[in-house]
Amino acid sequence: MIELSPSLLAANFYNLKEDIEKLNEMNVKYLHLDVMDGNFVPNISYGPDIIKQIRPHTQMIFDTHLMIENPEKYIDVFADAGCDIITIHPESTKHVHRVIQQIKSHGLKAGIVLNPHTHESVLEYIINDIDLVLVMSVNPGFGGQSFIDSSLEKIKNIRKMIDEKNPNIILEIDGGVKTQNVKEVLNAGVNLVVSGSGVFNNDGIEKNVLDFEEIFKQYRK
Ligand code: DX5
Ligand code: ZN
Repeated sequence: MIELSPSLLAANFYNLKEDIEKLNEMNVKYLHLDVMDGNFVPNISYGPDIIKQIRPHTQMIFDTHLMIENPEKYIDVFADAGCDIITIHPESTKHVHRVIQQIKSHGLKAGIVLNPHTHESVLEYIINDIDLVLVMSVNPGFGGQSFIDSSLEKIKNIRKMIDEKNPNIILEIDGGVKTQNVKEVLNAGVNLVVSGSGVFNNDGIEKNVLDFEEIFKQYRK
């Protein structure tokens, strides 16, 4: 699979309804939800109540990226809000394996997020327990930053690990991805592409989504 997961962080919060409807009309399959607590990352975004309010208005798969300390305290609340995937940073909790099981106990997909400095070896003993790996290609906390190039090598290494050990894992990239550089991450082996400013800014959602789709078509088998 190759799909787009637009990051809602870059949407127009004064008119979220319109942006969600546009994504629905464009048949976008995933929606990336960035939850920040002002503690794990130096920014505050939105939480489960907003997610719960959006839930009835779209079929998109809610791909929830938790940038919060001690995510174990909130997994049940995010599950109840209607999230489909929950990803956590290993640095945010003492018991990563336990939190992954907690997410899966709700019937959701669970994933690990790697910060730009985090080595892929952190995945070694948990690769058979997870459904997704999210590679950060910017430091988490803000949209609109530039892509960190060392992420490409990391993606290639993780693609190899996944193919050898658990080929069902979705490999996702997040940060600084636009139509201009998306081919590089696809060539490295990514199959879920987060883009915030690359979807919501400049030419507008419709044109941006179509441009991504045009490129994805060349990679879908
Ligand atoms: C950063 C978030 C990203 C961000 C991506 O902390 O995890 O999902 O919204 O935005 P762009 O695509 O603008 O870099
Ligand atoms: Zn994110």
